[in-house]
Amino acid sequence: MKQIIKLHDKFFKPYIGADKLKQAVKRLVDEVYNDLGEDEEPIFIGILNGSFMFAADFVREYPANCEVSFVKLASYEGLNSKGKVNELVGLSEDLTGKTVVILEDIIDTGNTLAKIYDIFEHLPVKQLKLVTLFFKPDVFKKSLHIDYIGISIPDKFIVGYGLDYDGFGRNLKDIYQLKDSKMKNIVLFGPPGAGKGTQASLLKDYYNLIHISTGEIFRCNIREKTELGILAKSYMDKGDLVPDKVTIEMLEKQVDKDLDVAGFIFDGFPRTKSQAEALDVFLAKKGEQIDGMVALEVEEDELVKRLLERGKTSGRPDDQNETKIRNRFNEYKTKTEILKEYYDKQGKYYGVVGLGNIDEITRRLKKVIDQL
Ligand code: IMP
Ligand code: MG
Repeated sequence: MKQIIKLHDKFFKPYIGADKLKQAVKRLVDEVYNDLGEDEEPIFIGILNGSFMFAADFVREYPANCEVSFVKLASYEGLNSKGKVNELVGLSEDLTGKTVVILEDIIDTGNTLAKIYDIFEHLPVKQLKLVTLFFKPDVFKKSLHIDYIGISIPDKFIVGYGLDYDGFGRNLKDIYQLKDSKMKNIVLFGPPGAGKGTQASLLKDYYNLIHISTGEIFRCNIREKTELGILAKSYMDKGDLVPDKVTIEMLEKQVDKDLDVAGFIFDGFPRTKSQAEALDVFLAKKGEQIDGMVALEVEEDELVKRLLERGKTSGRPDDQNETKIRNRFNEYKTKTEILKEYYDKQGKYYGVVGLGNIDEITRRLKKVIDQL
């Protein structure tokens, strides 16, 4: 299935794949055929425009002789049912004495269905059956009978497989669902020794976010020998930096795996302005954005002291040499300075005092993140 798509001003995420639709259609056909029997020659009437694809697939599966027709009955503009339904157009067949099976794409409030019953119940048909591919039980307000239901779905707007959002989306093979939840996407920064890893993992659990660490993603792609992993490794083996394009693509793939989460914590990325720009571009494609860069601010002297202390027992050589420690800080500061400016311009930079015990720092971070 494809990824997030944009129709007009809205974003939609993959929801029900073509395979599942096919199964649902097949099941509906079986149910109708079993009830009507092989001798019955029904007339299927699709309600346009939404049901054109469903009706086409349905009748193609239907194993007995049948007639096919369409009528039009529009009740919808935009995302909300207006509650008003137009007249029926296009019915030219004489339905007298026939077994009529209505094929609806979706039943939402039931207003359209009420109108359908109004019209068809007064016709001298032999029997009237109603099939709908989708049904929203939470919004259905009528006590009208629906004979066959394909897939019951929650009260969320969907498009694809004939269904549209203001004219678009009907041609999609799969069903997509309106993406309305707003994610919290954070870029987390912190100098060496500030406990960024610890905080990221606490925040991730608390806000139900996905922790995206570029280092992790690199290692994972290389381990699993993905196409991008092999490509990245070829640069690394030569001692070259992996180009942004490759990194971004890996990142995007990772993000696409979890489109239903509350958000992401980006850790170790972006490192440059161009990476930050690329991140903005790919999040925008999904109707998302970075909400804030949260940086742990710690006085350097204090951290040097802390790291040297740690070096006495940790055995890490890079923690034992003050010059090396100061170098790491300088590198960190140069990097963050650029990004600080980038996010500051958008009003998205949040510095948080990174000194204190773990709980204190977490509390400060939460205070900032809660407002994002
Ligand atoms: P109802 O009259 O409220 O039951 O709405 C039925 C009509 O509304 C359908 O025939 C569709 O045209 C439209 N509709 C309802 N829900 C959706 C949706 O999620 N996506 C696209 N169209 C919808
Ligand atoms: Mg319709």
